[in-house]
Amino acid sequence: MSLADKNILLGVTGGVAAYKAAELVRLLVKAGAQVQVAMTEAATHFVGPATFQALSGKPVLTALWHADGDGMDHIHASRGADLILVAPASADFLAKLAHGRADDLLSTLCLARACSLAVAPAMNREMWAAAATQRNLAQLRADGVSVLGPAEGELACGETGPGRMLEPADVMAALPGLLGAGPLVGTRVVVTAGPTFEPIDPVRGLTNLSSGKMGYAVAQAAAEAGAAVCLVSGPTCLATPPGVRRVDVRTAAEMRAAVLAELPCAVFIAVAAVADYRPETAAGQKIKKGTGGLELRLVPNPDILAEVAARPDAPFCVGFAAETERLAEHAETKRRKKKLPLLAGNLAQDTLGQDSAELVLFDDRGAHPLPRADKLAQARSLIAHLATLRS
Ligand code: C5P
Repeated sequence: MSLADKNILLGVTGGVAAYKAAELVRLLVKAGAQVQVAMTEAATHFVGPATFQALSGKPVLTALWHADGDGMDHIHASRGADLILVAPASADFLAKLAHGRADDLLSTLCLARACSLAVAPAMNREMWAAAATQRNLAQLRADGVSVLGPAEGELACGETGPGRMLEPADVMAALPGLLGAGPLVGTRVVVTAGPTFEPIDPVRGLTNLSSGKMGYAVAQAAAEAGAAVCLVSGPTCLATPPGVRRVDVRTAAEMRAAVLAELPCAVFIAVAAVADYRPETAAGQKIKKGTGGLELRLVPNPDILAEVAARPDAPFCVGFAAETERLAEHAETKRRKKKLPLLAGNLAQDTLGQDSAELVLFDDRGAHPLPRADKLAQARSLIAHLATLRS
């Protein structure tokens, strides 16, 4: 990743995760960015400014009130910045930002900025879930602030849940998109995700075990790469990835209509596990239990991907194939039948509902296996591969 010529103002606020900001500075510098660190007073109790000074090669800004210069650090420091990134962002700092407070150097820099602002929150899970924090986050999102994470897992307080600051590598992955420097900047991407639900009667239906995790990860990775992403999602319990526009659907027919309404687009990535069949008719009222058996007549659903790929204005189409055996053979047959430049295959038993996957990418040059990794890492590799093929 190259962030050459990018000026990043990294704000560090008070939290145990401040140690991760040191690694973040290292990665930013390695990617070629110029980094100016500004710390709140609380942050200096966790990691000393000398660490950030050494890693960034620049004196760290800590105080609003000091005797040198023209006393205008709070204006100057953000003027040349392409992005202000606050990582970790404490609950208190998010509250300040949401209310436009400016009572220390970092909050004043954020208020006086002329560039984008991103925050990577880190806090205890109850602080994260608190109504006030969620209200502040909603306000920040409405104000155009990008919220990166948090991740779920073990927290410094010993509890487990949402509140961990994203790992520095995950924060880095989001930056090209935020800085308009990703390989898919200016590209409209439509992604389908999740299962479909085909009604049998008003309370029952046919569905499958797709969790939507892979499709949501693909949508996130495309947004990180700078694309304008529309995620057409079947029923899932997942949160919409940052910067992604989501359209909720239930049935394959609704998914098809939602996808066609988004055309033309440059890239279509069909990750959804669309039901191949639906009940021919759905009963208007709940079907009552009888003594005998019950027959359901199924009819085929439209193949959304095949239809989009066959259009004269077809976008660059990517398919997914979850197979239970003979992956390479089935995946390649599917890719050729649907005339796709790229298809990602995996074994259904290795992926359905899980957090990690082992994808094999199939294109005109052959098969490219990716080592097993979490779905977001796999999705980022897929998007990087797709960007190379398109260019
Ligand atoms: O033919 P098969 O269902 O195995 O193909 C899988 C690929 O086709 C996936 O990318 C899936 O999202 C897409 N698909 C679709 N509409 C269907 C069935 C599958 O878009 N009705």
